[in-house]
Amino acid sequence: MPSNPHSAPPQLALDNVSASYVEGGETLLALTGISFEIAGGEFVALIGPSGSGKSTLLDIVSGLFPETGGTVRIGGTPQPVEDRLGRSAYMRQRDLLLPWRTALGNAALALEVHGVPKREAMIRAAERFPAFGLAGFENAWPGQLSGGMRQRVAFLRTMLADRPLLLLDEPFGALDALNRVAMQAWLLELWEAERHSVLLVTHDIDEAIFLADRVIVLSSRPGAIVHVETVALDRPRRRSVLASDAFFRHRSRLADALGILDDSMAIAGGVR
Ligand SMILES: Nc1ncnc2c1ncn2[C@@H]1O[C@H](COP(=O)(O)OP(=O)(O)O)[C@@H](O)[C@H]1O
Ligand SMILES: [Mg+2]
Repeated sequence: MPSNPHSAPPQLALDNVSASYVEGGETLLALTGISFEIAGGEFVALIGPSGSGKSTLLDIVSGLFPETGGTVRIGGTPQPVEDRLGRSAYMRQRDLLLPWRTALGNAALALEVHGVPKREAMIRAAERFPAFGLAGFENAWPGQLSGGMRQRVAFLRTMLADRPLLLLDEPFGALDALNRVAMQAWLLELWEAERHSVLLVTHDIDEAIFLADRVIVLSSRPGAIVHVETVALDRPRRRSVLASDAFFRHRSRLADALGILDDSMAIAGGVR
């Protein structure tokens, strides 16, 4: 594991983690031999083909799904899966907003589950609505919101949980290109200010490089780490970095690791 500039004990450490699903009596190996660490304040992106176990990995770290082997440690000593619940803020791939709660009610939930009284939770959540581009939509029902807006509500809810470890599963997947770029810049700003440790799943190579300190590449199923790219781009990052030679080199190494032709990315828009 390459050392990184943010010393201190790792916020997250995985050691030889594997995972499998049992379906119809058959065992399907989803992840194998996964070992890496994320330091306090470090931003790591996870990229890999569809079905490579990215969401499974986040489910394991968050405590929603048990690993089959290996150890997972958030902060101190290795925890059994149930002890990891609530230690991270997790935005799942599907937004999972409660249809019977308004946008504001859904966002406030992050605080309510941590014991903040409902009234106060609503007030604190409402304060963040404008910054998330959601002003005026506080009382909208999830069914009335666009996919992009639902994703921003889910993102706001995740940020309100305010854990030192953030798990984001394709948080901008439902956004159009312009909104996506705006949200990336804004996530970086937020991260620069608050320095959470982040593990972000994306299918977008450029997004991974633009945001992360390191990009971990998974193979197709069973997901194993095939490459770790340390991103040597100065921070704070500006959009113009996407046109730099250094960015291009990162991109072509990652495309190689993913086994895709560089040219095909423009057409396919990344990998899923
Ligand atoms: N609940 C489940 N039961 C059985 N197999 C599953 C389940 N969830 C995921 N899988 C399988 O595990 C593999 C990894 O899935 P997933 O973690 O969702 O991959 P990714 O997020 O990288 O697309 C896939 O082959 C998927 O079909
Ligand atoms: Mg997934």
